[in-house]
Amino acid sequence: MTTTDNARILGRSEIDDLDAILDIPLVDPTEVEHLLRAERETVFTWDYAQARPGLHKLYEKAKTGQWNGTTDLDWSTDVDVEAVMTKDMEVLGAGVDKTLYIGTPVEKWGDRQWLEFGIHGRNWMLSQFLHGEQGALICTAKIVETVPWYDAKMYASTQVMDEARHVEVFGRYLREKLGGEFQINTHLRMLLDDIIVDGRWDMTYLGMQIMVEGLALAAFGFLHQITAEPLLRQLLRYVMSDEARHVAFGVLSLQEIYAQMTDAEIKDRQEFAFEAAVRMRDRFMQQEVWERMGVNTREVLPIVMNDPTRKMFQSMLFSKIVPNCKKLGLLERNDAWLRRRFEELEVIQFEDWENTGDEYLKFEVNQPLPLAGA
Ligand SMILES: [Fe+2]
Ligand SMILES: [Fe+2]
Repeated sequence: MTTTDNARILGRSEIDDLDAILDIPLVDPTEVEHLLRAERETVFTWDYAQARPGLHKLYEKAKTGQWNGTTDLDWSTDVDVEAVMTKDMEVLGAGVDKTLYIGTPVEKWGDRQWLEFGIHGRNWMLSQFLHGEQGALICTAKIVETVPWYDAKMYASTQVMDEARHVEVFGRYLREKLGGEFQINTHLRMLLDDIIVDGRWDMTYLGMQIMVEGLALAAFGFLHQITAEPLLRQLLRYVMSDEARHVAFGVLSLQEIYAQMTDAEIKDRQEFAFEAAVRMRDRFMQQEVWERMGVNTREVLPIVMNDPTRKMFQSMLFSKIVPNCKKLGLLERNDAWLRRRFEELEVIQFEDWENTGDEYLKFEVNQPLPLAGA
């Protein structure tokens, strides 16, 4: 792709220009409010016919799938953070190949520092989930207003409640079990801002239901697979049962309108999906965690970015996004523009995995969780 495309869409010509990524300031940790002004059109519909059976079925599923974050999770579980992280990091192989870090400030780290890094990293990850959940709460409330279809408004209202519950349980877990949270990551905030400020209702869906929640569904599944902590596993299992419906909501809704859009309209959507993918990738560098450990990010991140284990985990997080974009027809339009971008990001290998519009029922709480890639 041309570097001018990158500059226009991302604000930098090279996707992996680390200096440009690190030049974006982190969010002030003392910030307590963030204000946005968004243009949008609020739509009433007087057509109450249930014209979209797929969305109506989701609505019925959502009503019976409700759970209570206060009573369905065992909050009395004692979480020994050090013991949990020691175990989880063994499963991950510590997530990093330490020999790669020779010559950097972390070369001399012992087990103690790596454990501390892991604990901050877990806290940071769950904090970003929490902030992302609030983004989902706000986006979905906006969809209730802006989507023109009756069945979609009804379904979206159930998702608003789901997201409130997700904010509740991640917030409570961070506060009671991990002792507080990290500020929102700057790249995540940029992405949420872009999604919320865009007045076109389908862009809210594309940014949130397809990109952010698609990544979240994969990330929750990954964490559920590696952690032995029973409360967190239970929490993630419940959240995933909701999240699969949310991503399905995006796929089922957008399929209908994307099929009717012109190439120029689709190009905007492809660019938006690409931008979202890159912002989410930028956030995996966990800048705030390295800083908390007293490490200069410019010294260590060139290595982190090229660590093959991290690259592999990172690409796994696109395992829902890519098949869902394919299902929406976004990969091939405009001379396969988005396919080529996903090739550059090295995530195209997931294109033939099952899309969430087809698989969401498998995530219901009473079923064994579908394994990644199965
Ligand atoms: Fe959520
Ligand atoms: Fe969600």
